[in-house]
Formats: sequence, structure tokens, C-alpha cells
Amino acid sequence: MNILIIGGGGREHALAWKMAQSPQLEKLFIAPGNAGTAEVGTNVPIGVEDFEGIKELVLKKGIDLVVVGPEVPLVAGVADFFKEDPELKEIPVIGPSKAGAELEGSKDIAKTFMLENDIPTGGFRTFIDYTVSEGRHYLTKLKPPYVLKADGLAAGKGVLIIDNLEEAQQELENMLNGKFGEASRKVVVEEYLPGIELSVFVLTDGKGYVIFPEAKDYKRIGEGDTGLNTGGMGAVSPVPFADDKFMKKVEERIVKPTIEGLKSDGVDYKGFIFIGLMNRDGDPYVIEYNVRMGDPESEVVLPRIKTDFVELMKATAENRLSEMEIEFDHRTVTTVMLVSGGYPGSYEKGKEITGLDKVEECVVFHAGTKSDGDRTVTNGGRVIAVSSYGDTMKEALEKSYENAEKINFEGKYYRKDIGFDL
Ligand code: AMP
Ligand code: GLY
Repeated sequence: MNILIIGGGGREHALAWKMAQSPQLEKLFIAPGNAGTAEVGTNVPIGVEDFEGIKELVLKKGIDLVVVGPEVPLVAGVADFFKEDPELKEIPVIGPSKAGAELEGSKDIAKTFMLENDIPTGGFRTFIDYTVSEGRHYLTKLKPPYVLKADGLAAGKGVLIIDNLEEAQQELENMLNGKFGEASRKVVVEEYLPGIELSVFVLTDGKGYVIFPEAKDYKRIGEGDTGLNTGGMGAVSPVPFADDKFMKKVEERIVKPTIEGLKSDGVDYKGFIFIGLMNRDGDPYVIEYNVRMGDPESEVVLPRIKTDFVELMKATAENRLSEMEIEFDHRTVTTVMLVSGGYPGSYEKGKEITGLDKVEECVVFHAGTKSDGDRTVTNGGRVIAVSSYGDTMKEALEKSYENAEKINFEGKYYRKDIGFDL
């Protein structure tokens, strides 16, 4: 089977690496990919939103199945584009329709969906420019800290958590005035949920589902979870507090009603659901939905899946997921993200990466990298994820850190405390 993966980060390298292990895979293409995906497949320089370019590639290369990595093409309707095109409509896309992708594309739609389906989440209200005074008043009724979320996609930057009421009211106004562009023309004000976070990943064909290993990621740039938010600085799987009892609650209270809710709304959803959860005294509450795998969570979750991943993709396409058993590796996997100096602010690209041939007992997933002649150079803020297995989290982390030392590029930074809170 010939597969195309859309995307070019660490998540897509992890997907490509996992699928390349399958005897069912013939040819693998990644658009646009990075220097890491080029080791397991063929990169094609087509952007994730260039649907016509993707169409041409799919037809020319005889692609049998498409797996969509990032949210942007999903929210832009890539699955619908395939469905509506006479030449593409028989080619399965793993990734929801545009309507399904709204679970990530609009916080207001996601929260309303949770409310309608009795899915545990914090209380909320949504405001637009001419209801700003109601918004200011609503904030006075909440306890600090105040959570303000841009409704639309804001590349992970659209959430503000503020302790002071006046400041929160001012930021609500700033957001509605376009602080995050179009994304914050609508703002969800949400009850703050104390607790410890965790990410759960589900693969569904719209009816059946499998739950992947859970993970925890570390989003802040600084140690001790301080400083600016990033795409993710490291991750761990499994998460010790997510025991069978907790995961059963997640399945019964969240996963099942989510899939049922999508079905009863007539939403076409074949793909990943990434549920961001808060564990509040042993009970799960949804913080957010994403309609894709996480990054860097994929770099710890996919190495723990033993089941043939191409078979999982095929079963999703053919509505056979309810018959699938999924097998996990019970070891711990950790990943440490090496990032460019200055990230998540401005940073330089094109720095040569050395030491990739020196690593041992780990899997190196490329995020922002590219080949430049026979050199590999940095090409983004998050550059390399170093994933390792261990019988314990400590052992896995030791390997990730030993190898993180060996890989070098000018300005390299990484957090030394991944897993500190577990
Ligand atoms: P999001 O972009 O929705 O994942 O939000 C970014 C981060 O803000 C999350 O990873 C949480 O750490 C935090 N967060 C979002 N919503 C809440 C909430 N209602 N209560 C507490 N923390 C939250
Ligand atoms: N690591 C968080 C995300 O993928 O959104």
C-alpha cells in the first residue's frame, strides 16, 4: 500500500517511522516532510494547504491512503476536498471532515459540543465585540485565575491565564479587538480547572475506536513549567496517575460520548482525537480537543504501539476498528525536545546539526530540520526530539538526556526537567 503523510514535523516523522515498520507498506511519501522523514520515505515539496498540489501527487504516485498530521489542512477541509473530488473520492483520508475539525478549530463549538453531550468540562461563556460588557461582568462572577481563549486556531498561543480581574477584563477587550487576529474575534471565558494535565489519544472510524497510550507533555519553555508556552518541550508515556480506574472514567465519560455525539450530529469523523484533560481529584475534565495527534506526544505514544500501524490506518478506512485489538509496549518512553536559541520568540535557522551519528539507544525524531547538501540544518524552533525507552521513567530520561548532549547546533536549548512533576 502506498501512503502519503501530510505535514513536516516531529509528529509526522514519528508517524512515518512507525508506518515504515509495517510489511504492508510499499511506498511512503511525506509532504513536505523534513530531513528525518527523508530517511524512511520520499519527501515531496508540497505545502500542507496546497490541495491541488496534493491531488496531483496522489494521482501521479498511486497513493492508496492519506494520513493528515497537522490541524491546519483539516480545519481548511482537506478531507472534504477528497470526498467531493470525483478522482479522489475513493481514496481514504485519515483525518476528520471540516465539520469534525471544528472541535479544534472553534473552542466555542467544542465547548458547546461538550455541554450538549454531558462531557465533563469547566463552565464557560463565549463573547464577541458587542457583548464585551457582559464578558467583563461574567468575569466578576468567576474566581481567579481567569482563563481566556481565542475561539479560533492561534498556533497554541491563544490561551491566557490571568490572576488579576482588571487585567483579565482588559485582555478580554484586547482579544476581541484582534489581539490574535481573526482567531480572537470570539473569546471563550472558561472556569479555571485546577489539577494535573494529561493527553489521551483516540483513533476512530466514526463508530469503533481504539485508545492509544496516554502521555503528558511539557509546554512551557522554562524549567519548573515557567515562561512562555511552546509547541511542547518534551513528553512522557505512560503517565503514572493514569491508572486503569482513571482511564476507565476517561473512556466512559469522555471517549464514548464524544464519538456518540459526533455520530448523532452526523459529523463524518475518521481520524485521531486528542483529548487534553485535567485530572481533578481523580476525575477527568476536558480542557480541549485537538483533531490530530500531539507533538511531541506522538514521539512517545507511537513508539509504545506494537500493533501494525498501517493495519490500524486501513482498519480505520474500512470501518473495522471495533474489531481491532491494540497492543502496547509496557516500557516507558520519554522524549526531550532540542530547540533553537530564542524559541518560542524569534530564532535563526540554517544552523548545522552535528552528532546525529553518535546517538545510541534512542530514536531521534526530526522536527524543524532540512537537508542542505550533505549537511542537516535547523529549519524551525523545535528541531529534534530525542526519544528513549526505559523500564522506568528515570532510565528512559537518562538515555534521552545522554543523547541530547551528543547532538549539537548553535544555540541549542532543552529543558532538563522533563517528568519532574510525576
Ligand atoms: P489549550 O490551548 O486549550 O491547550 O490551553 C493551553 C494551556 O492552558 C493548557 O495546556 C492548560 O495548561 C491551560 N488551560 C487551558 N484551559 C484551562 C482551564 N480551564 N483550567 C486550567 N488550565 C487551563
Ligand atoms: N503538544 C501539544 C499539541 O500537540 O498540541
